[in-house]
Amino acid sequence: MVTEEGIRQRGFIEQAKSYISDLEKELGRKPTCCVTTFGCQMNARDSEKICGILSDVGYEIIESEDADFVIFNTCTVRDNANLRVYGRLGELKSKKKKNPQMKIALCGCMMQEPSVIEKLKKSYRFIDLIFGTHNIFKFSELLCSMFENEGNMIIDVWKDTNEIVEDLPVVRKYPYKSGVNIMFGCNNFCTYCIVPYVRGRERSRTPEDIIEEIERLASEGVVEVMLLGQNVNSYGKNLENPISFAELLRRVEKIDGIKRIRFMTSHPKDLSDELIEVMKESKKICRHLHLPLQSGSTAILKAMNRNYTKEKYLDLALKIRKEIPDISITTDIIVGFPGETDFDIDETIDVIKKVKFDNAFTFIYSIRTGTPAAKMEQVPEEIVKKNFDRVLKTVQDTARSQVGKDTGKTVTVLVEEVNEHDSSLMTGRMSNNTLVHFPGDIDLIGQFAEVKLEQCNGFYYFGSQMN
Ligand code: 5AD
Ligand code: SF4
Repeated sequence: MVTEEGIRQRGFIEQAKSYISDLEKELGRKPTCCVTTFGCQMNARDSEKICGILSDVGYEIIESEDADFVIFNTCTVRDNANLRVYGRLGELKSKKKKNPQMKIALCGCMMQEPSVIEKLKKSYRFIDLIFGTHNIFKFSELLCSMFENEGNMIIDVWKDTNEIVEDLPVVRKYPYKSGVNIMFGCNNFCTYCIVPYVRGRERSRTPEDIIEEIERLASEGVVEVMLLGQNVNSYGKNLENPISFAELLRRVEKIDGIKRIRFMTSHPKDLSDELIEVMKESKKICRHLHLPLQSGSTAILKAMNRNYTKEKYLDLALKIRKEIPDISITTDIIVGFPGETDFDIDETIDVIKKVKFDNAFTFIYSIRTGTPAAKMEQVPEEIVKKNFDRVLKTVQDTARSQVGKDTGKTVTVLVEEVNEHDSSLMTGRMSNNTLVHFPGDIDLIGQFAEVKLEQCNGFYYFGSQMN
């Protein structure tokens, strides 16, 4: 949908083009820029929007941070994400010393924290531009301000917005697959989590806008879409004409050219029977569900404000396994939430063993200032470490046998890229999200291939192509 704000921003794109063309003349070459993304798929999608504008205004996008303009799209879900950004900023500072013309911008979730902005203002004066998660669509306008105010730190962070501006250029990282935002923000306020504070309240895009975007992507050759939201199961509830997530999936299924549909993330409290039904009947929805458990202890789940019990989670996961036997279920687990006892850890381990997760991202609880859990009594570090190792070991054991169960089968994979470590191998993704590495030709990228799964190495396979 064309919006008034979109038209306004296009004006700034034209303005920015003239600044970049002046810079190009001065440098005697095309100015380069690099966008480094920290964190989740939502951030990855936001970075594609930032790259879309950068490329439109005349920058050459490169992978190296030895660029004329470097942008960090930050994450703040755990404290180590913040620490990494500060560490990398130190490196940028010395690059800028050597090249004073260099511009540096920071955006994303970390910028929504007032304490971070204070610290940057005080100790990181070399940064040129700071903006948050709610005004990415204003990036071209901010770029213009940056060029018009050389030497000053421009800070534009909004608390929240209802505005959804999507009619701006995007540069996709992969030609054959794409993320699609279906909603923004989160209303759940899990007591450990900073996301509702930095991403604001839940806002769904209309199904018409989403379908139009996916149809356009399909016409550009995209075969796989990942529908993105912090809690996709509550999609559409607050729209003027409410619609369920399952119904949205039915509509996406009908789009010609789209062969695979994925989505992230599902909150167990909102996962409906209708969704299980739609997944079961679908030819396109991938056999994968990411269903964050966080803890297997009902007491801890209550303290986390998760709105389900151990039994409810188990019932749901086992029902899904029964209805869709070839599905893989992955999860997120936090170890060390305030008040967590050995008994609580045993409960988490019990759920892992019963559900047999295909993969689990296990995190050590990280205090986020401003969240309710930050004020609760914390578990000593040595105990957390010991519990973390126990949980991780259980996850690795169950995942190995669960993932390996397809050994010997031939499956369809979407070939994604050349293997990172061995360029004679290609890497493909199965419908259930497991990766397979196999000898193959680079031309296969973006194509579907039939691959025999020969050897399972924990979380992935080695195989050989059959067609
Ligand atoms: N500490 C540790 N892990 C966290 N997560 C969210 N907040 C925190 C925190 N404060 C984890 C949750 C969530 C994933 C994206 O990050 O497991 O599902
Ligand atoms: Fe954070 Fe909970 Fe919202 Fe997920 S559902 S983003 S964990 S508050």
